[in-house]
Formats: sequence, C-alpha cells, structure tokens
Amino acid sequence: MLTAIAAVSSNWGIGKNGDLLFNIPEDKKFFRRTTLDHTVIMGRKTLESLPGGKPFKDRNNIVLSRNMDFAPEGVTVCHDVREVLGIIKNEDAFVVGGGEIYRLMLPCCVKAIITKIDGDPEADAFFPDLDNAANWALTGQSEKYTYEGLTYRFCTYENIGNEVIK
Ligand SMILES: NC(=O)c1ccc[n+]([C@@H]2O[C@H](COP(=O)([O-])OP(=O)(O)OC[C@H]3O[C@@H](n4cnc5c(N)ncnc54)[C@H](OP(=O)(O)O)[C@@H]3O)[C@@H](O)[C@H]2O)c1
Repeated sequence: MLTAIAAVSSNWGIGKNGDLLFNIPEDKKFFRRTTLDHTVIMGRKTLESLPGGKPFKDRNNIVLSRNMDFAPEGVTVCHDVREVLGIIKNEDAFVVGGGEIYRLMLPCCVKAIITKIDGDPEADAFFPDLDNAANWALTGQSEKYTYEGLTYRFCTYENIGNEVIK
C-alpha cells in the first residue's frame, strides 16, 4: 500500500530552489517516525536536496531518474513507475517527493498524509491540490499546533477514486 507524505503551504507549495519551504522540528520527527524502517520513494532532485545528497537512514530508498547512468550509493534507482511498483509489491511504502514524483505517483497512492502549514511563501514545486481533486477526500485532521509563529495541522486524505493503480 502506497502513501504520499508531504508538508505543504496553504496553496500546496512544497519547495523553492531545491529546498523545503518550512523547517518545523515536530514535523520532521513525525516524518521520521512514520517512514522509519519502510521504503521511501523519491525523485532524483529530492535525493540531491537531502543533507550531503545522502538517502534517508534506516529506510529503503528508491529514487526515480530517467538517467541510466545515475547510480548513487545506498539507493535503488528505478527508471519508471512500473519498476517501482514491481519492487514494492504489497509492502507499505511512502512517496516522499518532490513535486514531479507526487504528481506521477499519486494515482497509485491510497492515502496522503499532509502537514498543512498556514502561509504562502513563494514556491516553485507543488503537491497536487487535494482539496479540489475529485478522487480525494479529507478524512481526518489533528488540532492546530504552533511553532515560531507558524500554525499547522496533520491531515489525512484518502483516495476515493474507483481505482488505485497497482
Ligand atoms: N514539502 C515536502 O514535503 C517536500 C518533500 C520532498 C521534496 N520537496 C521539495 O520538492 C522540490 C523537488 O521537487 P521536483 O519536482 O523539483 O523534483 P523531484 O520530483 O524530487 O525529482 C524530479 C526528478 O525525478 C525524475 N523523474 C521524474 N519523472 C520521472 C519518470 N516518469 N520516470 C523516471 N524518473 C522521473 C527525474 O530525474 P532525472 O532528471 O535524473 O531524470 C526528474 O528530474 C525541492 O524543493 C524539495 O525540497 C518538498
């Protein structure tokens, strides 16, 4: 079962110039706790945005790239979605970004765990707007939390479309 996990601004922005828009320690802990010991799937640009360009520790990292020569240490490189789905089979795995990979893999996800942060900093990468997506419904949300003037909540969306691509 595939779940997307992301932190988004009010207009679903997720990044700018290869960086994240926000740095909320509790959200980072939540991401780590949720994905630990699981497979995470990301795009080549997101891998390169991680500290030292290194994969997430204690997780099985799958990276999507069209470049056949791309072979960084410590990750499994896939060149298309079918290859990813063939590896994860029925395992619980997480799509962790960025914008291109969320768009590509969302139809394969049953759930999206979204940290929604109030505010609209300029962004050049976006998560699809699930509030206006016919196939997706908000099924749960936490209370609001505050960190250094930022308010945010953890939300769960479910894919209510007829078919999740497997
Ligand atoms: N807020 C969050 O939760 C969150 C999470 C993750 C990332 N981010 C942010 O998102 C931004 C990066 O997102 P992005 O959209 O620019 O890049 P991305 O989705 O991380 O990676 C894009 C790359 O994925 C590969 N790719 C895309 N489609 C593919 C396909 N169909 N088959 C095979 N490979 C494919 C290509 O790699 P090649 O060019 O090598 O072929 C492409 O350049 C950064 O700012 C990052 O900080 C935010």
